[in-house]
Amino acid sequence: MTKKYDVAVIGAGAAGMMCAAVAGQRGRKTVLIDHATRLAEKIRISGGGRCNFTNVQAGPQNYLSQNPHFCKSALSRYTPQDFLGLVKRYRIGYHEKHKGQLFCDDSAEQIIAMLKSECEVGGVAWRMPCKVMEVASAGDAFRIETDSGTIVADSVVIASGGLSIPKIGATDFAYRIARQFDLKLIEPRPALVPLTFDHAQWQSFVALAGIALEVDIETGDKKSRGQFREDLLFTHRGLSGPAVLQISSFWQPGTALTLNLLPEMDVAAILMEGKTTIKKNLGNVLAQWLPSRLAEGWLTVNDFDPDSRVADMADKALRKLGESLNRWTIIPNGSEGYRKAEVTLGGVDTRELSQQSMMVNRVPGLRFIGEAVDVTGWLGGYNFQWAWASGVAAGMSV
Ligand code: FDA
Repeated sequence: MTKKYDVAVIGAGAAGMMCAAVAGQRGRKTVLIDHATRLAEKIRISGGGRCNFTNVQAGPQNYLSQNPHFCKSALSRYTPQDFLGLVKRYRIGYHEKHKGQLFCDDSAEQIIAMLKSECEVGGVAWRMPCKVMEVASAGDAFRIETDSGTIVADSVVIASGGLSIPKIGATDFAYRIARQFDLKLIEPRPALVPLTFDHAQWQSFVALAGIALEVDIETGDKKSRGQFREDLLFTHRGLSGPAVLQISSFWQPGTALTLNLLPEMDVAAILMEGKTTIKKNLGNVLAQWLPSRLAEGWLTVNDFDPDSRVADMADKALRKLGESLNRWTIIPNGSEGYRKAEVTLGGVDTRELSQQSMMVNRVPGLRFIGEAVDVTGWLGGYNFQWAWASGVAAGMSV
């Protein structure tokens, strides 16, 4: 049986539900299709179950894209304050954490329920779980073949996300549709992801697993530089924590990361100046500034004796120690991949899309939104803000 709609949205995640709700509430007959059995699994697990649903500081500067200007229009037309207005209207308790990040007080489920309810207000029809076999042009419309029948729609919005966390239903559907319509893709790769190191090289750091501290981290060249002050976490396989997740989006294979483990101190200068006054041994001095397990482990890894007296050490050795802490340079051998990545960098090339409507310039009626598009936010609520904003941009124009 064939059913006819004005709008078919494929992917009922963050961007898809937002788009369908807006389109439905504008009077468009809308259907939302998803292959998953559970709705919006990524929202559910986000922010440790509390969904970091936006960031009050979100702006184009917080996104990576081959065309950094593309996201400006949608982000300026649907702001963090707009989404917060919706959250308040639904009386969902929230709080601000670190650096403008807004989280639910109780549960990410509340955001899912809110978006579902917004879809209900718009009279959106659901096909879920529903497998999409084919999307094809049919004159001025599109024909979508699914395992629950054929859908014909004037507009199709692809909101099936990126490749991160395949275990909860991520697929390459958006990229396949893009290729089918001859659209350019920016090569996808895992981002906001822990970084790994050569097994042998990492052995001496394994004892540091579990240690966390605030660091400065940077990578890249003048053209594309990432620089953050965030928490670092040592793991058994490499480095993680917000500092590394953030920098992973900027890191290019084969290049180095530079970390400053004591960003507020010039360690070499302090040690050299204190040679006559510091009575403690090296291990105890460092333990004043760093977690004690890290202080001891760091000295061992860098071939210093924790029992050495600072007063007895040569300036050259103190400079070497200072350099190791203030400019630790290390080259990852890869990342934990899509299994652990919070997002996918790259996607449908924004040069193929209208920044007002998210519509494909060469294929009227076809749109891509959310993570499927080559717009990737930093860690901290920016990716959901892009999902909401691009969803609204498409929903307002279908
Ligand atoms: P999303 O992935 O949400 O939705 C895609 C939908 O398409 C899914 O429902 C999927 O089932 C469906 N689909 C896929 N393939 C299909 C197919 N072939 N046929 C039909 N349907 C298909 N961001 C943030 O801002 N704050 C946060 O706190 C977090 N936290 C977080 C934690 C973890 C563990 C992860 C993995 C990610 C985050 N993120 C985040 C990122 C955020 O979840 C992500 O950027 C958005 O969900 C992207 O929204 P989309 O709607 O584009 O894709």
